[in-house]
Amino acid sequence: MDKYVIHGGHRLSGEVIISGAKNAALPIIAATVLADAPCRIENLPDVSDVGVMIHLLQQLGASVQFLDRHTIEVDPRTIDTDTVRDKSAQTIRGSYYFIGALLGRFGSAVVPLPGGCNFGVRPIDQHLKAFAALGGQCSMDEGLITVKAEQGLYGANIYMDVVTVGATMNTILTAVKARGLTVIENAAREPHVVDLANFLNTLGADIRGAGTDTIRIHGVQRLRGAAYAIIPDQIEAGTYMVAAAATGGDVTVKNVTPQHLDSITAKLEEMGAVIEEGDDTVRVVCNHALRRCNVRTMPHPGFPTDMQPQITALLSFAHGTSIINDGIWDRFKYVDELRRMGAQITVNRDMAVVEGVDNLKGAEVRALDLRAGAAMVIAGLAATGVTQVEDVQYIERGFERIVEKLVGLGADIYRSQSPDSAPLRKMG
Ligand code: EPU
Repeated sequence: MDKYVIHGGHRLSGEVIISGAKNAALPIIAATVLADAPCRIENLPDVSDVGVMIHLLQQLGASVQFLDRHTIEVDPRTIDTDTVRDKSAQTIRGSYYFIGALLGRFGSAVVPLPGGCNFGVRPIDQHLKAFAALGGQCSMDEGLITVKAEQGLYGANIYMDVVTVGATMNTILTAVKARGLTVIENAAREPHVVDLANFLNTLGADIRGAGTDTIRIHGVQRLRGAAYAIIPDQIEAGTYMVAAAATGGDVTVKNVTPQHLDSITAKLEEMGAVIEEGDDTVRVVCNHALRRCNVRTMPHPGFPTDMQPQITALLSFAHGTSIINDGIWDRFKYVDELRRMGAQITVNRDMAVVEGVDNLKGAEVRALDLRAGAAMVIAGLAATGVTQVEDVQYIERGFERIVEKLVGLGADIYRSQSPDSAPLRKMG
């Protein structure tokens, strides 16, 4: 079992460069299926979920060349099947973007049910509703989702019953080459939704309104090739901002879009950190004790659920009592791990009450999922003594070279590889 060993109590300082956004990269990799010519994707994060998506694209028959560690050239013209067969599709969430992309290209798609972090039930009813509205007949059998649009795909009005990132992006992928106009109402406004729309528009799509709650897509017949750079990762940036505050540090987070970080900045300022925004940088300085605050996760531009575990770890040693509400996912299980480090947190359904303690103490803990794992790393950096975080493969699904980046900021952390652990899938 691979783990991170952290000697806590070191103040982080210096600069850290943020990688491309995982949750933008996954749909954009799938979207290349829709192009009629090669596409170059730049600023891809070198994380294992992206490695799985690229592997699935290759299994479909696309030719993928690595120009460097973060840049691929995809030739989708050689794709000759509408079926994703590889079992690794079940290990990540983003594999379901191949449904929309293959449906848009072939009028049919067969894809395994997706996996991803375990937050209890993760319904896909809004995806299926959108496929059906656009002309697809959906069925599920033996863990496979099959969608066939025998009469072709036609634009439609689709109202999302919940704000969902995944269903908004899958609808865009399906509708981009459908005949006529598709209107998505109550659409997700996350930066990665905008990035997918921008990528497709660069290929010649006609998508307007991404970033608002109404997206209008006029179907086009062809999509050309293009070069496109993925936006910076909002959650990776936010995680380093919280890590800086947790260690009383002074960290400049580089290659970010500061507006994407507004909700995180606001909460850190409320807690007493000082934040300076540059054009594509955010500096976090924190040289006194942190104050309590309340946090409620919301769809963008609200506070992201993917930052909830990290901010809860920070509040666990802030002065006073904080209340965290997360109605998006059932993702408070990691609180038991924080308790091992001395945190005083009680959870009632979708609410956690955090009584700030003076300091956390190092312990052996587990990364229960990607963001919960990041929270344990933050707790370990701030704690006294030694923290061992196990199951780090979850963290490496979405954080590129996290150990190296933290060491660059002065953290005392190393990765200890167990001799019998399976090698991580590498990009390139
Ligand atoms: N929902 C439905 N029906 C659906 C789809 C979603 O009821 O058909 C509900 C969900 O149960 C949830 C809410 O809508 O309560 C939001 O779900 P959403 O569809 O937005 O989530 P997702 O697309 O499955 C993506 C990210 C998650 C992130 C959420 C919310 C990817 C691959 N995953 O998931 O990221 O938490 O949006 O922002 O983009 C992570 O990166 O660690 C991660 C979990």
